[in-house]
Amino acid sequence: MISHISRFMQEETNFLFIIFRTPHQRKKIRRREMTKVTSALETFGRNILLSSNSKRKEYDFVWKHLSSCQKILDVGCGVGLFLHYAPDRIIGIDINPHNVNFCKSKGLQAFVGDALILDFPDDSFDGVHSSHVMHVFTPHQAMTFVKEMCRVCKPGGKIVVTLKHDHPYFWQNPENSRPYPPSVFYEMSRPQASTEKPRNNPMWDDLPQFEPVDINYRHPPLYYVMMYRSRNRLRVSMALNVLQCKFGLKKYWTFDAYSIVLENRKQLSA
Ligand SMILES: C[S@@+](CC[C@H](N)C(=O)[O-])C[C@H]1O[C@@H](n2cnc3c(N)ncnc32)[C@H](O)[C@@H]1O
Repeated sequence: MISHISRFMQEETNFLFIIFRTPHQRKKIRRREMTKVTSALETFGRNILLSSNSKRKEYDFVWKHLSSCQKILDVGCGVGLFLHYAPDRIIGIDINPHNVNFCKSKGLQAFVGDALILDFPDDSFDGVHSSHVMHVFTPHQAMTFVKEMCRVCKPGGKIVVTLKHDHPYFWQNPENSRPYPPSVFYEMSRPQASTEKPRNNPMWDDLPQFEPVDINYRHPPLYYVMMYRSRNRLRVSMALNVLQCKFGLKKYWTFDAYSIVLENRKQLSA
């Protein structure tokens, strides 16, 4: 009996709470509903991005260069989108154990590892891939990252790096350190510092030997929508930008990301 009364009281209070909301409570509920709608929009945008054009085009370009490789390493594999291209030939490493566990749950080969100290002997892979990782590194780390990929790649093998280019969107992610334009790879592949033009920073020591051989650009949306007033508006902006790209409304004369193919020209390790 007592429990019935208490349940009745509770239901009654909830009911009254719903009927007699203060303006503050109404605002809170409206905001909660709005967040649900905008997160659904964001997920929708993200799914379009992953399932459609830009991501697939990016990976298709990478695969054109790596498909002939027997053993491939994917550095910073994330949730393993690239590993699906050839699960028996591609090994992924990522610093985030959650991503690695997710890949493993899908039957993919993935291990926890740091891109800056690759836990593989020299010349272990015919091809090395890394997408959307390098721009989180500082210049010194970025150089180490490229050197490590060249080290584990066999002479004559291919290294394909995809990274974001300078664009307003780049600076929204607090993880991002700095953009590295394609010219950086040409600088990195220059012959060792000469006596006429010495480079004093130790990051230039033991430069990797590679040659950029191909490049593919990703184009940003025609009108870059950016509403900063709230997280919800930012989400709507993201969805609108993705939708523009989906329908081909892009700035074809510039790029916000690119994939560069490097041919490993190093000599065989002793
Ligand atoms: C933006 S995600 C890209 C994932 C995937 N490559 C793709 O293109 O979908 C960047 C990934 O790099 C990983 N990462 C960041 N720093 C790393 C490091 N030092 N070593 C290995 N992985 C790293 C992150 O955990 C994350 O999964």
